[in-house]
Amino acid sequence: MTIETHTPAGPSGSPGTALDPSTAQARSAALEEEVRRNPGRFRVLTGDRPTGRLHLGHYFGTLCNRVRLQQLGVEMFVVIADYQVLTDRDVAVDPSGHVEELVLDYLAIGLDPDHSTIFTHSAVPALNQLLLPFLSLVSVAELGRNPTVKDEIAYSRQSTVSGLMFTYPAHQAADILCCKANLVPVGQDQLPHLELTRTVARRFNDRYGEREGVFPEPEALLSNAPLLLGTDGTKMSKSRGNAITLAAGSDETARLLRGARTDSDRHIAYDPAARPEVASLLLLTALCQGRTPQEVAADIGDAGAAALKKSATEAVNEHLAPIRARRALYAQDRGYLRRLLRAGNERAREVAEATLGEVRAAMGTAY
Ligand code: TRP
Repeated sequence: MTIETHTPAGPSGSPGTALDPSTAQARSAALEEEVRRNPGRFRVLTGDRPTGRLHLGHYFGTLCNRVRLQQLGVEMFVVIADYQVLTDRDVAVDPSGHVEELVLDYLAIGLDPDHSTIFTHSAVPALNQLLLPFLSLVSVAELGRNPTVKDEIAYSRQSTVSGLMFTYPAHQAADILCCKANLVPVGQDQLPHLELTRTVARRFNDRYGEREGVFPEPEALLSNAPLLLGTDGTKMSKSRGNAITLAAGSDETARLLRGARTDSDRHIAYDPAARPEVASLLLLTALCQGRTPQEVAADIGDAGAAALKKSATEAVNEHLAPIRARRALYAQDRGYLRRLLRAGNERAREVAEATLGEVRAAMGTAY
């Protein structure tokens, strides 16, 4: 079997389709309106790989958005992707520890277990069983040309590429479709996976559906948060060692930000193209303070990078103080974390089993 890994994204990536970022952005704005008008129409599924503690990039990129959706009254499912993370060999070392850290971060930022079902892949057999019929609906070529998977293969430090690497996007479709979510808040890198999910839903409905299909075709909700850079001026990412975690103490935050890359121009101005590192620190400060980066820059003026770093440190520490306090509190009660996860898994199992029941009935395999 040859798996095609070097073809371009193909027609699904061209302008005007859901994969095209500007189209997805425009559609997301319309969806935002609709969510505000009618939150009860939506069910959200989103998730993370358990790779350790979440950082400020996650927080401003996606986590804030989840809490906002929850507050609007949208029903939410959050999957801790403990099977998908197996594609990431170097971090899949302490699954239960990583899962607990993730749950702690969720609780700290304000996800409320009464409104958000937090669960793990491995605890929901019906979810995993959906993978098999779903795989029959996609071609090897389609799996092979997923641009996000191709990137992950290119940047992975592994000597071989596992079958899971090519199939996890279909598994992600099972995450989303097992609870019939119709809205998936994601970053741009996840758009190919969402497109595959829509394809799977459509093909399943076409092949097996009666008048009404079994599955909705879920839509992406792109957050409009701009990208935060890490302390070395590249994308903030745990594996690059340039991230500030939510759980970091205030001294650690100060130390990391003091070491952040900047430039030698003492005049601080917001110019993301020409001065990305300075712009990212301004953005971080602004996001924490609910201001614009231009306002922050105007305050600092000619005081230089040291003053900018000091402002950023104060802003981050102040903004995260209540989150860090809540995190520390929950961290003292590991029993509660485990109970919460067990209850989330129980609920996810019920929902996924009901969906699998419909899938079996539609496929004629309900014996
Ligand atoms: N693929 C996502 C990531 O790498 C995590 C994830 C798993 C996910 N299942 C999901 C995201 C379903 C959105 C919906 O970060």
